Amino acid sequence: MVSTQSQPSSTASKLMQDRVVLITGASRGIGAATAALLGQHGAAVGVNYYNSETAAQEVVETITASGGRALAVQADVRNVQQVNAMVQQVEEAFGAIDTLVINANAHFPILPFVAYGWEDFEAKLLGELKGAFFPCKAVVPSMIENRRGCIIAVSSGLSRDPGRGFIAHSTAKSGLDAFIKSLALELGSYGIRANVVSPGLTLTEATAQLPQQQKDAAAQSVPLKRNGLPEDVAGAILLLASEQANFITGAYLPVSGGSQML
Ligand SMILES: NC(=O)c1ccc[n+]([C@@H]2O[C@H](COP(=O)([O-])OP(=O)(O)OC[C@H]3O[C@@H](n4cnc5c(N)ncnc54)[C@H](OP(=O)(O)O)[C@@H]3O)[C@@H](O)[C@H]2O)c1
Repeated sequence: MVSTQSQPSSTASKLMQDRVVLITGASRGIGAATAALLGQHGAAVGVNYYNSETAAQEVVETITASGGRALAVQADVRNVQQVNAMVQQVEEAFGAIDTLVINANAHFPILPFVAYGWEDFEAKLLGELKGAFFPCKAVVPSMIENRRGCIIAVSSGLSRDPGRGFIAHSTAKSGLDAFIKSLALELGSYGIRANVVSPGLTLTEATAQLPQQQKDAAAQSVPLKRNGLPEDVAGAILLLASEQANFITGAYLPVSGGSQML
């Protein structure tokens, strides 16, 4: 079950009214929390999943139960045909996508460089960048046509500050950051904004295997003295997606309780 931290009390406070959003990797974790929050703020939401169909349907039910619109759509974001079919499904249901959240998590082994094999390194790089490139290719033409659009990528604090064992993740996410900045530069004149949110350690299934001691130590080292929650990242994505952020593009927004300061 997903929760939200900022539930709108009325139509007037809905920040995403009449918007059509696609969120990759929205069956669990940060993507699911973002889908729920944007849905409660009035967006029609395409909830992408890869394997977790039941979980994606639960996210859809959370949104529709509170009067919103959502659709679960299966696709491997590394597969261009599947991505194109997914975008078509969402657009047939709700109209042109005006907001894309690139969030799907490309799995990777945590290993030191000396133990890293090229195949694992390449799979992470290609997975991360295909998962950004293909969805953007599919939605940007209609954004250009409509002269409005918003792209938000979920990067990681590790894209700027390396962590031991995370060489593939750091390299892939810094590529994602550069990709988004390039889009911000090239697409701004069409009214399309592109930004990055950069979570620190966030409690999801992706971090569930970390020892509790490590999570507690991370919380203690953060100025706000706790681990991040999916809802924290969802709130930052809502902020960047909303019209309140209309003059923000090319930004890198840490969501880490102050563990990363620029
Ligand atoms: N958690 C953290 O501490 C943390 C910190 C910094 C950045 N991030 C970033 O935040 C994002 C979300 O992470 P999370 O912790 O929420 O992950 P998570 O709980 O492990 O969820 C991953 C999501 O990605 C989907 N996914 C995986 N491979 C996919 C594919 N090939 N195609 C489509 N969907 C795919 C999964 O779908 P299925 O379940 O349907 O397969 C699931 O919905 C990631 O980009 C991650 O790098 C996370």
